[in-house]
Amino acid sequence: MARPTSATIHTAALQHNLSQVRARAAGSRVMAVVKADGYGHGLERVARALAGADAFGVAALSDAERLRAAGLSQPVVLLSGFDDAEDLPQLRRLNVETVVHHATQLQMLEQAGSGPPIRCWLKLDTGMHRLGFAPGDVRDAYARLVAMPSIDPDIVLMNHFASSDEFVGAGSNGRQTREQLRVFAEATAGLPGARSLANSAAVLGWPDAHFDWVRPGGALYGISVVDGMSGADFGLRPAMTLATRLIAVNTIRAGEHIGYSATWQCPEDMPVGVAAIGYGDGYPRHVPAGTPVLVNGRRADIIGRVSMDLMTIDLRPHPEAKPGDPVVLWGAGLPVETIAAAAGTIGYEPVCSITRRVRFVED
Ligand SMILES: Cc1ncc(COP(=O)(O)O)c(C=O)c1O
Repeated sequence: MARPTSATIHTAALQHNLSQVRARAAGSRVMAVVKADGYGHGLERVARALAGADAFGVAALSDAERLRAAGLSQPVVLLSGFDDAEDLPQLRRLNVETVVHHATQLQMLEQAGSGPPIRCWLKLDTGMHRLGFAPGDVRDAYARLVAMPSIDPDIVLMNHFASSDEFVGAGSNGRQTREQLRVFAEATAGLPGARSLANSAAVLGWPDAHFDWVRPGGALYGISVVDGMSGADFGLRPAMTLATRLIAVNTIRAGEHIGYSATWQCPEDMPVGVAAIGYGDGYPRHVPAGTPVLVNGRRADIIGRVSMDLMTIDLRPHPEAKPGDPVVLWGAGLPVETIAAAAGTIGYEPVCSITRRVRFVED
């Protein structure tokens, strides 16, 4: 029998989320960020569902290749840029646009042979200190790019925010985002071209940062990175339901311990469900006891350690539960953000971590 573990991808939710982004950033074009295999939801599947986006953002040329092979002809932008001159012919062949964030890339472009013009997204480091030209170097980089006959003179100016998720709740003063906006405005004043600054959190919380192109990833998958809030709090719908079934229900005696290292002790004689999912499927191993699942649509708690193929569930609130009953790990009614918080991470990580043995289905 096949393992009953599945990730259902809700294409209507992806489309709903895109329309939510469009409603919030009405004056902007939308680059749908589909890197990391569409945040674990499946690149081609996500891109087809989001074919109404104005562009796709990827991290690897191989993803661009997959999008073209799937027949998607929208603009595709390589968000981390190219790192090898040998990538340039392929960029041209696939008609892929590239982020330019470093002087080594300018050299490679200057030395590249002629060909159809490459469209560039010139990235500034306005305070995140990951990729990008220092504000003082941007005009020089811009001038070098427009001087190259092999570069499309229509250059987009961009940056990336480090803490745009800080716009609601106690202690979120948004200081770093305001400073990044200020640095960007100052460094690019007078330069022509479209501007692109906003990731999902900035789409949701920083209307002043929307400009010409927004670049949401997580929001399209219905996931929030705002502390204590889920996508549903912003009108988004989860694009993935991770589910399995109970494969056993056992009565375990008071005082007995459950699972590896005996981390959980039964306070009374009680029914314990065993669900066919574990860290071998990508479910986070280190969630504590008490992390929720939905059994037959109703909340129950994980007890004991999550193991490779299985997890154990306290079924005292659901004495009627039996083998074969559905268990939802995250999806509608149980935000992945809740599970992520229990695992000490953000909602993006669990959805990106689903392993290949999980069956993907689409609805
Ligand atoms: C350059 C860039 N833009 C946009 C995004 C999308 O971010 P998010 O998924 O938080 O919307 C990312 C993702 O990390 C990124 O690296």
